[in-house]
Amino acid sequence: MSKAQIGVYGLGTMGSALALNMAEKGFHVAVTNRETDWISDFVAESGDLAEKLHPYEKIEEFVAGLDAPRVILFMIPSGRPMDLMIEAIAPLLSSGDTIIDGGNADFHQTRRRSAALAGQDIHFVGMGVSGGEKGARHGPSMMVGGTEHSWQQLREVLVSIAAKFEGDPCVDHLGPDGAGHFVKTVHNGIEYAEMQVIAEIYGLLRNGAAWAPAEIGQMFERWDQGRLKSYLVEITGKTLQFDDPKTGHPMVDVIKDAAGQKGTGRWTVVEAVRLGQSANMIEAAVGARSWSSEKETRVTAQKILSGRRSELNLDEVTLADAFLAVRILGYAQGFRLLAAASEEYEWALDYARIAEIWRAGCIIRSALLDDISDAFRGDLPAGQLILAPQMATLLEKCVPALRHVVAAAVNGGHAVPAMAAALSWYDTIRQGYGTANIIQVQRDFFGHHGFERLGEEGKHHGPWWD
Ligand code: 6PG
Repeated sequence: MSKAQIGVYGLGTMGSALALNMAEKGFHVAVTNRETDWISDFVAESGDLAEKLHPYEKIEEFVAGLDAPRVILFMIPSGRPMDLMIEAIAPLLSSGDTIIDGGNADFHQTRRRSAALAGQDIHFVGMGVSGGEKGARHGPSMMVGGTEHSWQQLREVLVSIAAKFEGDPCVDHLGPDGAGHFVKTVHNGIEYAEMQVIAEIYGLLRNGAAWAPAEIGQMFERWDQGRLKSYLVEITGKTLQFDDPKTGHPMVDVIKDAAGQKGTGRWTVVEAVRLGQSANMIEAAVGARSWSSEKETRVTAQKILSGRRSELNLDEVTLADAFLAVRILGYAQGFRLLAAASEEYEWALDYARIAEIWRAGCIIRSALLDDISDAFRGDLPAGQLILAPQMATLLEKCVPALRHVVAAAVNGGHAVPAMAAALSWYDTIRQGYGTANIIQVQRDFFGHHGFERLGEEGKHHGPWWD
C-alpha cells in the first residue's frame, strides 16, 4: 500500500469530518484514534472514500504509514491530552516532521510546545479550525501558526479542503508558534460578542415588544438578505422558527436560559487584560454567559427586585442600524487585540488577510468582513478599524440608532450588556481629552504617584503636596 500524505489522530466529530474532507479532495489519509474500536466503524461508514483512508490501530504503524517528512494532525481535547500525545509520538518522528494541534488551544501552550519540539527539529503547528462539523467536512476556515517549513508541507492539503470565498481559500499562514491559535481565540471572542448582541436584540423584541419567536426569526432572515448577512444571523433566523415536537411551543421557549462556554471567550478577555487592552463587548458577552448560569439567583431576584421592565417601541430599521454599528465595534475590538498581540509577540499579523480568511467557512463569516478587509488595505488612521473612512462613515450613520436602542433598553429596564459596552467604548475612544486626569489627581493625592502635565515631560505633583 502506498503511504499517506497526512495523518489524522482523533476521530471525534471534527477529526472525522476533516479526514473525510481530505479524502474527498483526493489525499491519502492515515487515520487512528485512542479508542481503537472507533477506527473500523469510521472507515466502514465512509463509503467510497474508504479507499483513500489508511486505518491503523498502533501509533508506530500509523507513523510508519506516512510519507516523510510527516504531517500529523491531532484533533483531540486541548491541554493535557495534547502533551501526552506529544510525549508518545515525538520519539517516533524524524527531523522535519510536523505535528498540528487543530483544537482550540491556549496559544501560550502552543508557544511552549513549539519551543520544546524545535530542539528536536520537529515542527509544531497551532491551527485554529472554525466552522463546526459541517465546516470541517465541506470547507472550514483555518488559521495556521508555525514555521514556513510546516506551511509549505501543509499548504496543498489545507488549500484544497478550505472554504472558498469567491475562489479565495479561507486559510493562511498567519505567523509563527501561537499566532494561529491566538487568532482563533479572538475569532471566538468576536463570536461570543455577536451571539450576545443577537440574543439582546431577541430579548428586546420578545420581552419588550411581545414579538413571537417566529416573527423575530423572520426579521433575522430579512437581515440575512442584505448588509447584515452573516452565518449567526442566518442560523438564528432559522432556529427561531422551529417548534418543539414534544409540546408544540416555540423551540426556544423550552430551552433553559443558561449558556455553556468552553473557555475561548474567557481566554480572549484574559489576554486582552494581559496586553493592557479591554475588549469590553467580549467581556460583556462572557460575563452575560456567566450570569445566565446563575439561574437560581435570577429566578429569586425577579421576585424581590421587581422594578420596572416596560414596553419598548423599537422599529426594525433602527434595530438593524444599531446592529450594524455594534458589529463594526465588535470586530474593531477583536482586531485591536490582534494588533496588541502581534506587537507583543512580533508576529507581523496581516489583518486584511485575517478578515479575508474569515469571509467563508467560519462561525463569524459575514458580508461585513469583505468591507473590513478593504478597510485594512486602505487608509487606516492610528491603525484603528473604526477610523477607516468607510467604517467611520457607517458608524456616523448608525451610532444614533445604537444610542436610541441602548437608551430605550436602559430606560425600560432591559439588559443589553454588550450593546451598552460597545457604545461606552465608542464614546470613550472618540474623546480626545477624557476624564483620566481625575484618576491621576486621586492617585497623586492618596499615593504621591505623580502625573504628567499636558505638553510637559516628567513627573509632577499637585499643589495638595505643597
Ligand atoms: C468555531 C467555534 C468552535 C466552538 C467553540 C465555541 O469556530 O467553529 O468557535 O470552535 O463552537 O468551542 O464553544 P463555546 O461556546 O462552548 O465556548
